[in-house]
Amino acid sequence: MKKILALVGTNANFSYNRLLLKLMKKHFKQMADIEIYEISKLPAFSVDVPLEEQTEVWKLKQKVKAADGVIFSTPEYDHGIPAALKSAVEWLSYHTTVLKKKPVMVVGVSYGRQASARSQVQMRQILISPDCDANLMPGNEVLIGGATHVFSKDGRLINAEMRDNLEECFTHFIEYIQLFENADEEEVKMPIKQPRISEAYIKFPTGRLSLKEVQQIFSTIPFEIDLIDSTDHFAWYSDKPNREHVRDVASLGEPVTECHPPKAVPAVMAIINSFRDGKRDVVTRPLWMNGHRSLIQYYALRDIDGHYLGTIEFTGSVEYILNLFEKGAWDKGGTDASTGASKHEDTAEASDDNEVADASTGASESSDDSTETTTAASEPAGTEETDADTGASESGSVDADDEAADATTGASEEE
Ligand SMILES: Cc1cc2nc3c(=O)[nH]c(=O)nc-3n(C[C@H](O)[C@H](O)[C@H](O)COP(=O)(O)O)c2cc1C
Repeated sequence: MKKILALVGTNANFSYNRLLLKLMKKHFKQMADIEIYEISKLPAFSVDVPLEEQTEVWKLKQKVKAADGVIFSTPEYDHGIPAALKSAVEWLSYHTTVLKKKPVMVVGVSYGRQASARSQVQMRQILISPDCDANLMPGNEVLIGGATHVFSKDGRLINAEMRDNLEECFTHFIEYIQLFENADEEEVKMPIKQPRISEAYIKFPTGRLSLKEVQQIFSTIPFEIDLIDSTDHFAWYSDKPNREHVRDVASLGEPVTECHPPKAVPAVMAIINSFRDGKRDVVTRPLWMNGHRSLIQYYALRDIDGHYLGTIEFTGSVEYILNLFEKGAWDKGGTDASTGASKHEDTAEASDDNEVADASTGASESSDDSTETTTAASEPAGTEETDADTGASESGSVDADDEAADATTGASEEE
């Protein structure tokens, strides 16, 4: 089922455009899941609104990003769209690309005979401007005039012609959305159009890996890695099952300030800037995530000359390591696998029973069979506490030096 976000194009307490969207939500519930959004929640657009006051804006952008399509329902004020609606679109186009290529539909209601035609023309122009760059559904005009006559008191559209037109246009909108999805699939299915490297190898000074191996290494190791590039854009994340931080490909390429809840941005930028300025190379944060003990480490990524390439966020459950430690895995000593030096007076402890061979080098290490070695990937997820404001699902304490934010997505981990 398609997820549609529908913006009420006014901040008025009573609105026929709101009635229209409510009616559409109910009427088309078999075809789409329509969420109605009130633009009255947003601050008036200004480039000077401090980031801390943009939480609502951020939430709206997340909703637009997650939606398969967006509907704008516009009244007509002075032959144009209401200022509040223009302000909302400004938020959705300033320093963000959430509307880019997003399938959008315009509808509108007014009291007059012109049926919001002029404001809809304006709305359409705005939506195809370079900073919006939406995939505007052409044609399919839903022009509802004479609002006081065509709506019943209980919010039904009693004009049959308008109702039929609405049904036809909305059906076209769902097909329009599918058109883009199918186009994407076609590209994947037709490598002849889009050449792809399938069996490439990367030669490292220390060996060669196929791209498939690289991908599978990232999905196998019990840690997840995210990268913010040198221009502060979310560039890449390792794909693996049961990630601690759930990432979305829709966020790739976004400025780091954009993919974070505004409250988290100063902390995130403080980490990144300290790396860029060479003041720090690593920030370590032990914390509880998804019911287990985890570690997040941020590393400055530098080239061999020390130039800043980006920030890596390294996250993983350390529960199995701590279990080993708590069960005394290292207390028994044994032989240092790399130097051969004895770590414990009682070397007899490293008996044959306890000996395991390092699969790649053959180095022998002492181990305790009784210790549990479950990896993060197989860890059952614990009870999750979700921060209603930020959507963050983590809680925990932070080192005195460290900041309370996930540097990649900005999930706030404040308690
Ligand atoms: C400031 C203002 C300007 C308006 N200008 C127009 C207009 O130019 N053309 C028109 O048809 N209706 C105009 N109207 C009346 C609108 O038809 C009506 O407010 C609106 O489109 C109905 O939508 P709503 O109930 O969702 O607010 C205006 C209303 C206001 C408050």
